[in-house]
Amino acid sequence: MLFAALSLLLVTGISCRKSPASPTGLVTEKAMVVSAREEASAIGVEILREGGNAFDAMVATELALAVAYPYAGNLGGGGFMVYRKSNGDVGALDYREKAPLSATADMYLDSLGNVIPGLSTRGATAVGVPGTVAGVFEVHEKMGSLPLEKLLEPVIALAERGVIVTENQENRLERYRDQIIEISGEETFFFTKCRVGDTLKYPSLANTLRRIKNNGRDEFYKGETAKKLAAFIQERGGYLTEEDLAKYQAVWRQPVIFNYKDLRIISMSPPSSGGVTINQIFKMIEPYDIGDYEHNSGEAIQLLTESFRRAYADRNFYLGDPDFVEIPLDFLLKEDYLHQRMSDFTFDKATKSESVSHGTVEILESAETTHYSIVDEMGNAVSVTTTLNGAYGSKLYCDELGFFLNNEMDDFSSKPGTPNMFGLIGAEANSIAPEKRMLSSMTPTIVEKDGKLWLVVGTPGGSTIITAVAQTILNTYEFNLSMQEAVEAPRFHHQWLPDYIIFEPDGFPEETKEFLRSKGYLINEERTPVIGKVDAIRILPDGRMEGGADPRGDDTAVGY
Ligand code: DON
Repeated sequence: MLFAALSLLLVTGISCRKSPASPTGLVTEKAMVVSAREEASAIGVEILREGGNAFDAMVATELALAVAYPYAGNLGGGGFMVYRKSNGDVGALDYREKAPLSATADMYLDSLGNVIPGLSTRGATAVGVPGTVAGVFEVHEKMGSLPLEKLLEPVIALAERGVIVTENQENRLERYRDQIIEISGEETFFFTKCRVGDTLKYPSLANTLRRIKNNGRDEFYKGETAKKLAAFIQERGGYLTEEDLAKYQAVWRQPVIFNYKDLRIISMSPPSSGGVTINQIFKMIEPYDIGDYEHNSGEAIQLLTESFRRAYADRNFYLGDPDFVEIPLDFLLKEDYLHQRMSDFTFDKATKSESVSHGTVEILESAETTHYSIVDEMGNAVSVTTTLNGAYGSKLYCDELGFFLNNEMDDFSSKPGTPNMFGLIGAEANSIAPEKRMLSSMTPTIVEKDGKLWLVVGTPGGSTIITAVAQTILNTYEFNLSMQEAVEAPRFHHQWLPDYIIFEPDGFPEETKEFLRSKGYLINEERTPVIGKVDAIRILPDGRMEGGADPRGDDTAVGY
């Protein structure tokens, strides 16, 4: 009976849906790259124009972001790629950082068992074994079509020619300059203040990239670069060794795939929590037909918040590196289970998150990651999120090699029950162990509609990544916004603990917040951060594509 009622709801929901929104973002005929910097998007497109496929463009765009967007683009970090080939094959690559061999569960704790502030977030002790170079080589070897040299040449040229500082970049460098100098010393490249319009040239990075071009993947993991990098980190008291680098491997994974109404959503599997958590969210809301509510109305926010709350509670307890922990995915993704999770939800009042023993939990620092989306002429799609974790990672810049090192070790749960820098509370499943990968929230996602490629989407934003990706998909699918509008629309976030909703500044009317307060929702008024920088592509009914480039950053869609 209930099932019949729900099915009817679904059918009516779908049939009522309006025709697709007219595009408001960049529209192109054949191919597109949307990334955090125009220079990187343009290099990806240059590769596509020269006959490269989306995977070739991935290699070039990823490395170009390491040059043009050192805030998050990287050689010293890691990431995840989800792809869909034009023939419908899908897959995922995990090039997430790993804990060094000498890592231990209590490496960031003092003798009393308390977390030592800063050890997992700043400087050499915070650095996990980088995966990015292994990632791009893996993609190139398995899926690329152009010679690697061809992909690297424009990137090296960009590092030599330099990148023009934007206003956003000046502000970011100014904000983090003291911390970078404190960690990396006064000799660091970033000691000099940068102003809008300055050109930043990266000769050391160009040299590193050139050695990689000449000597291949092993240059970074076993060659001169590996030796220099390991020595650099060791001298500063970090854990990473030559052996750690030599042992690093990227891993192909089966993505998480699920249906939401007539969409098929393909997203990143563990060690990222993105796919599992977004799958839970969509299945929890599916019976309600959220499209019947007004976009960002009190009811829509209530429904999403309650699904976010329940999904993050599972995330934090169950998820970790699947090579190390047993994740009960069959159970966590079962529709019956997810519908039952929502059985105590009513629109009358907020559910309260379980209180945690140590009281108030704060989201301490906003930090950076970056996402890019690519579609090529053949219809291959690539969705990649890559990160150093924090803004400029550990703030440790290796001047000789020309790049920042990650602080990804903070994504582990250093002490179960104690929040990390995103306020996420982890459990045993995400404890530290040698060679283990730390749990991520990165959610590179591809969506099919009626069996065809429809959306490529993802974002930075730490713990807010998953909820921002969910909102962007719903904005287009349920609320009929164009890709660009869906990206621009104001966002909100809830992550179970701390038990409050955060809203972006100015995006939500006071009466909506008042409505939610009246239902018992807590709203954090002090924290109104920008949530994510979504870069997405929508395939239009006539086969053209619309870019959604987030105006919260310098993000730019380029295509032809
Ligand atoms: O993997 C993760 O979930 C985090 N390291 C991502 C960090 C991030 O998105 C910071 N960006 N705002």
